[in-house]
Amino acid sequence: MRTVREVKALRGVVASWKAVGQTVAVVPTMGALHPGHLSLIAAARAGADRVIATIFVNPRQFNKPEDLARYPRTEDRDAGMLATAGVDLLFAPPAEAVYPEGFATSVSVAGLSEGLCGAHRPGHFDGVATVVTKLFLMTGADRAFFGEKDWQQLQIVRRLARDLNIPVAVTGCPTLREADGLAMSSRNTRLSPADRAAAPALFRAMSAAVAAIRRGTPPDEALARARLEVLRAGFSEVEYLELRGAEGLEPLDAPDRPARILAAAWLGGVRLIDNIAIDS
Ligand code: PAJ
Repeated sequence: MRTVREVKALRGVVASWKAVGQTVAVVPTMGALHPGHLSLIAAARAGADRVIATIFVNPRQFNKPEDLARYPRTEDRDAGMLATAGVDLLFAPPAEAVYPEGFATSVSVAGLSEGLCGAHRPGHFDGVATVVTKLFLMTGADRAFFGEKDWQQLQIVRRLARDLNIPVAVTGCPTLREADGLAMSSRNTRLSPADRAAAPALFRAMSAAVAAIRRGTPPDEALARARLEVLRAGFSEVEYLELRGAEGLEPLDAPDRPARILAAAWLGGVRLIDNIAIDS
């Protein structure tokens, strides 16, 4: 696996692949890799001739400087994992290569970015949309792989590719979970042992709400019960736990179209998110 830090070198390698008719996939990450990330690499390998992984801890999507400062940076370990997983090229640019002096442009996906995580993390999704647009344009990838774990992000990425006519096919990949149901996340390592034991309550409560809604319980009632269960398990705050349209993320009173329950909640100073389909 080759590691590249400059856009010019990246474009050169991609051009050489495309010249011989090879298709190219990209898997954007911020590093601190876990099996969830590697599942995206596996999907990318199955879906294209060449795979680029990117590692860039994007300053623009952190709304608190302390979060950016404490984000784990483990590039050597991550590079080893990516090489073993069969990645052809790691693109790990320094911040100046992505945001040079005078950088003034922002990509903002109206509507989709506004509720849920967007309401609690001002500017976060503009930062994500801007960097993902740049990664698409810098790599020229034909296909891109994102996790359903970040469902709102996935919908925003699909929309920006469509709205801006970026010729990249975006594929969503299922959320990888620990044996007890907790969605894998680099943040899970920040949980104390007691909080780690309590953490699966979020997925459990959401799954119970899905089952109740399928049995005909009014969603409001099922969601209110789930919020209570999460708090009872030791979470300090439920930011949101809601029923939304799967693609447009519009609030729903009833799952009369493809729908998901999405949630964000705080446990021991760590913010956890999850989402599940109503109808799968
Ligand atoms: P990061 O949190 O590193 O996640 C990179 C990719 O891995 C995202 O597409 C995310 O949805 C996926 N992922 C994370 N946990 C997963 C899990 N348990 N199962 C399956 N996929 C999982 O998301 C970002 O980085 C950034 O916002 C980024 C898109 C790279 C832009 O900076």
